[in-house]
Amino acid sequence: MSEEAATRPGRPVIRIQNAVKRFAGRVVVDIDDLVVGDRPIEGLIGPNGAGKTTLMRMVMHSTSLDQGTITLYPQGQENDRAVVLSDLPTYRMARHGVVKSNQVIMDFEKLTIWDSLLLASAAAKYEHPHRIFDEPAVFAESADEIHMYLKLFGLGDPCGFASSAGDKKLLDIIRCVLLKPRFLLLDEPTAGLPDATTELVMGVVRSLAARGTSVVIVEHDLDVIWNLSDEVHFMAEGKVIMKGTPEEIRAHHTVVEKYLGEGHV
Ligand SMILES: Nc1ncnc2c1ncn2[C@@H]1O[C@H](COP(=O)(O)OP(=O)(O)O)[C@@H](O)[C@H]1O
Ligand SMILES: [Mg+2]
Repeated sequence: MSEEAATRPGRPVIRIQNAVKRFAGRVVVDIDDLVVGDRPIEGLIGPNGAGKTTLMRMVMHSTSLDQGTITLYPQGQENDRAVVLSDLPTYRMARHGVVKSNQVIMDFEKLTIWDSLLLASAAAKYEHPHRIFDEPAVFAESADEIHMYLKLFGLGDPCGFASSAGDKKLLDIIRCVLLKPRFLLLDEPTAGLPDATTELVMGVVRSLAARGTSVVIVEHDLDVIWNLSDEVHFMAEGKVIMKGTPEEIRAHHTVVEKYLGEGHV
């Protein structure tokens, strides 16, 4: 490797080593060594109960690890900066650019749509101290961005409250984007959304990835995964049992159908 290549900043990656989670004595996640983020968009698939959500929650440290280490390499593993995420509390993740969407949305009922999103924008500015926090300018920049996303997704009155599950889901995705993630974890972001909206969400994810964010996405709708992912990790019973391009994973008909049922490849 040339000296230049060795020092060139790479994509942010997360390495999960020797990570175990048990619930009531039962092992639900047991990962030896897994690196995610080398490719712009990586899919994480597997049957219900495989441990996908738990693994994402372990990365965010919103669930504790029984064992193991999770490390963020903000510029790739070749560069020496490393952040041990499994030593950090959840609220410190965004400061390191690690953001996760939620599979089940419980929020957005106490704040208006506008206030919820403005809060995310302001948080992003505070999380990046190299930016000068100049309130009017930040407000204008954030307001433009918020309006752009509200319009894109056809969300109504920003002074109102999110009512439907679909609107809350979209607001949660917009919140994630406004946080300017370097590493974004999406847990079933398009579940329950109409096809046209799913396309819009995929577009937003693609453009984030194109600008350097590493994205890991869990999704039941495998068309989304096959369409979006540069690489796919297949999880079953707490372990990653296969990894490859969508084409490579789909070529394993028997494994995919055994775990996910017929008609998925
Ligand atoms: N808080 C919890 N308490 C007990 N068991 C849990 C909890 N969260 C998840 N589990 C169990 O862990 C396993 C993995 O769940 P999960 O990570 O949600 O899987 P997936 O997202 O792949 O469907 C399941 O058997 C689930 O019932
Ligand atoms: Mg899940």
